[in-house]
This record gives sequence, structure tokens and C-alpha cells, in this order.
Amino acid sequence: MKNGLKLLAMFLMVGTSFVQASSDAAIEERIKPVGEVCVQGDPCADAAPVAAAASSGPRSGEEVYNTKCAACHSTGAAGAPVSGNAAQWAPRIEQGLETLVSHAINGFNAMPARGTCMDCSDEEVGAAVEFMVDASK
Ligand code: HEC
Repeated sequence: MKNGLKLLAMFLMVGTSFVQASSDAAIEERIKPVGEVCVQGDPCADAAPVAAAASSGPRSGEEVYNTKCAACHSTGAAGAPVSGNAAQWAPRIEQGLETLVSHAINGFNAMPARGTCMDCSDEEVGAAVEFMVDASK
């Protein structure tokens, strides 16, 4: 019985120091990275706003196509050349990318200016044209 108590006491001690050790590690983890923490005024702080701005930067061609152009260009509505249809796109691609982009931006017959995406930049419309052209070769 005495031995049993000793053993229990030992377990408690070992257990306590183990808990102590692991919370030390947790504290170290929390206070550790002086080099990784970005303090205002440090050079690393300048990088943060750039990363934040990138997420609201220009949409990709695929994104613009899917949200703004696919309504007509995946179905052929109003006679739109279907994205992925090489035969329909070949004669258009022959005009050159610059002409295609300009037609997409300014409108061309039943193709409405900017595909009706009034908040699309020239760059975003151009990226969407390139996305369709690449998909239709
Ligand atoms: C309301 C339907 C509609 C939407 C939306 C639309 N298009 Fe079109 N698009 C057309 C039609 C119709 C044509 C064919 C015009 C023609 O050749 O007479 C066309 C043609 C084009 C052409 C070929 C122009 C040429 O010179 O042959 C490009 C490039 C193009 N669209 C890009 C886009 C892009 C990029 C978007 C999205 C930002 C878009 N379109 C959204 C209907 C649409």
C-alpha cells in the first residue's frame, strides 16, 4: 500500500512536470517568432498590403469568361461562336488577337461591347478573349 502511494506520487510528479513542459512549449510557440511577426514600420509590413490588393486585382480570363461571356459563348446564343469549337473560331482567330480583343471591347454586330460587362477592364476582356481563343484552337 505504501509502495502504491509512492508510485502514485511519482506518477503525479512526472505528470505535472510533463504538463509543465508542454505548456512551456506552447508559450515558446506563442512568443517565438520575433523574425516572423510583422511589426508596423518593418520592411516586411510593406509586403502585406500588396498581397491584400492582389486578391482584388484583375479577374482571370477564365473567371471573366465563366461569369460574363459563357451565357452566349457556351451556347452559341445570337450566333456567338461557341468556345471550344475550333471550326467556328478558326476564321475569327485569323483576324488576329488584337482585332478580336477590339471587337470584344467595342462590340461587333450582335456581340455587345464588353459582352455587357461594364465593370470589366480592357485587360480583363482581353484575358477572356485569350481564354476562349486558347480553348478553341
Ligand atoms: C449577349 C451575348 C454575348 C455575350 C454576353 C458575349 N458575346 Fe461575344 N459574341 C456574341 C455574338 C453574337 C458574336 C458574333 C458576332 C458576329 O460575328 O457577328 C460574338 C463574337 C465575339 C468575338 C469574335 C469577334 C470577331 O471579330 O469575330 C469575340 C472575341 C467575343 N465575342 C468575345 C466575347 C467576350 C470576351 C465576352 C465576355 C466578356 C463576350 N464575347 C460576351 C455574343 C455575346
